[in-house]
Amino acid sequence: MAINILAIESSCDETSAALISNGKVLNNIIATQSVHEKYGGVVPELASRAHQQHLIPTVHAALEEQGLRPKDLNAIAFTKGPGLLGSLLVGVSFAKAMAYALDLPLIEVNHMQAHILAHFIEEPRPAFPFLCLTVSGGHTQLVHVRGYFDMEIIGQTQDDAVGEAFDKTAKLLGLPYPGGPLIDRHAAAGNPHAYAFPITEMPGYDFSFSGIKTAVLYFLRDQMQADATFISRELANICASVQYTLVEMLLRKVRKAARELGLRQVAIAGGVSANSGLRAALEQEAEKRGWSLFIPKFEYCTDNAAMIAMAAHYKYLEGDFVGMDVVPEARMKF
Ligand code: KG4
Ligand code: ZN
Repeated sequence: MAINILAIESSCDETSAALISNGKVLNNIIATQSVHEKYGGVVPELASRAHQQHLIPTVHAALEEQGLRPKDLNAIAFTKGPGLLGSLLVGVSFAKAMAYALDLPLIEVNHMQAHILAHFIEEPRPAFPFLCLTVSGGHTQLVHVRGYFDMEIIGQTQDDAVGEAFDKTAKLLGLPYPGGPLIDRHAAAGNPHAYAFPITEMPGYDFSFSGIKTAVLYFLRDQMQADATFISRELANICASVQYTLVEMLLRKVRKAARELGLRQVAIAGGVSANSGLRAALEQEAEKRGWSLFIPKFEYCTDNAAMIAMAAHYKYLEGDFVGMDVVPEARMKF
């Protein structure tokens, strides 16, 4: 008999539902919230309200698409954290209500572990142990992955996430939110060594990205005072130089960790893994050092419920369920 699990993701600004059957992801329905664009960032209150509106239609669409009914399900999974508390509350409450109504077991999933387990949705899958760089708008983590739920964060950002650094720099350049993909696009036509921005040195495997934002702010202020057309004239070169600096900071730590821990399989996860500069740099590095490099499909890099479903499948096999008293955790650790 098939084991069918419905998974729900609502940690930030994507409402998503996915179905997994016997470990195979069947679909991944995502309702993106456009309401935040005009504010230049995610507004938590609006995100919670949009989850309320989108969640039932999203779940309905996932079931309908596969011709499944609620009574065909064997468990309900949800993102417990980390994330925006109001957004998480909507998903957790819905999952509990559905599990209660159908008398099904509940499975809680850590969103950051799920980003890593997205690597198991499709071939090629990494083998344990491997190193994973998780880079998103909210997180920058270097993780030693020894098993599905045996993961250790060996380094992380002490201030801004790298996606935030991309987005904040883009804002300084007058680009709309989220600016990360736009920096990537403009960078393609620029010289990465046109301008030098400082590389922040951090101990161990930690990162710091707030310095570059400040450096870019002062750099642009000075240049624009001298020539008000500077940004529009030099946009590609500025983007390429900023991207080069951010990627170089990530790369140094990945290289150091892979060498010191003796890991030859390197994976990336999270929205920033879409960045072409990061991909190219890692591909080059992998070639040079004989690493196997794993990059999930873009759909599984950004926030999605398929990765929650994948994590839930492994938890189901272990009989790892939670009670109805479960509550979300905005700062959930591994
Ligand atoms: O994982 P994600 O979809 O959401 C969370 O933050 O959890 O990541 C979104 C982040 C944003 O900061 C966005 O600007 C960045 O990923 N991003 C990129 C690219 N595509 C998305 N940053 C740089 N280059 C890209 N191509
Ligand atoms: Zn995420």
